[in-house]
Amino acid sequence: MTSIRAAITGVGGYVPEYILTNQELETMVDTTDEWITSRTGIKERRILKGENQGVSVLGIAAVKDMLAKTKIDPKEIDCVIFATVTADMTFPATANIVASAVGATNAFSFDMGAACSGFLYGLSAGASYIQSGMCKKVVVIGGDKMSAIMDYTDRTTCIIFGDGAGCVLLEPTTEDVGIVDAILKSDGAGETYLHMKAGGSRMPASRETVDKRQHFVYQEGSAVFKFAVTNMAEVSAQLATRNNLTADNINWLVPHQANKRIIDATAHRVGITEDKVMMNIERYGNTTAGTIPLLLWDYEKQLKKGDNLLLAAFGGGFTWGAVYVKWAYNS
Ligand code: UT7
Repeated sequence: MTSIRAAITGVGGYVPEYILTNQELETMVDTTDEWITSRTGIKERRILKGENQGVSVLGIAAVKDMLAKTKIDPKEIDCVIFATVTADMTFPATANIVASAVGATNAFSFDMGAACSGFLYGLSAGASYIQSGMCKKVVVIGGDKMSAIMDYTDRTTCIIFGDGAGCVLLEPTTEDVGIVDAILKSDGAGETYLHMKAGGSRMPASRETVDKRQHFVYQEGSAVFKFAVTNMAEVSAQLATRNNLTADNINWLVPHQANKRIIDATAHRVGITEDKVMMNIERYGNTTAGTIPLLLWDYEKQLKKGDNLLLAAFGGGFTWGAVYVKWAYNS
């Protein structure tokens, strides 16, 4: 029997227009362009402004971009997965809102909450639906409106995050391309170092939670940094080894964009030179679940059928993982 894999057959993306530069951040918190650039590699990030603008706005624009390029009929989409930690509302799922807005009226849809690794979790789940034969077309979106949960008085955290979303279309293939292998991990002990304390069922919103600024991201940056450097590099090396991937046959490392120093450490561990590392952190910062699909969106024209891509992420939870993708088309 010919084995079926899920192939990425289309990419879409969207970043909002407003650019929050390091220079503007200098006017908001006690920081400098020099500190942010040297410690993170970020120069600017995008911010979704305006009333009643949730992350669905980003997701809908990303999927519409993908639909315009692939020209598929949205009614053929079987499933929409939206990886995000900044859903429009606690419920319904933002994926439901996006699916309806883009005309994917025959799809079932749900959100995936795995923070910065959410897109990789979603990709893996979507690929399993395809491989099992349950779905023929799955859309996986990764995106966040981090500005909605950012404390712009906390200089250690607000400087790294931004807003944006990207998506991919998955379809079955019998060719030697597609999602080949994945390693996904999580460790709930990470809660201590990276979380948003209030607004969930453990600590519902109250006047007190607002006064204590508990509806914002809390991050112990240097602790998270140490876990990220070790685990993202390790899982990438593990996946590379078991698939006989080396510096010579990996065409692209596609790393979560949290901090250029974490990206450099992962590339170094796998032995990949900077010219093979996808990077757009300087323009978008850390868009949480959005970083990896936004990289694919930015680099799509440079990708060739058969290219070996190693996707890697680390984030809140903790969650981390790596996915091996053989690119399925020439643009
Ligand atoms: O997305 C997935 C999960 N998140 C991550 O992977 C993020 C991982 N962490 C990081 O990227 C880094 O830890 C940060 C960029 C968040 C912070 O960089 P750092 O090099 O770890 O800085 P730090 O928190 O250890 O602080 C070093 C110094 C401190 O000053 P003292 O105590 O040494 O005098 C901070 O107060 O830098 C100071 N500092 C700043 N100075 C100017 C912290 N933030 C700033 C700032 N501007 N924005």
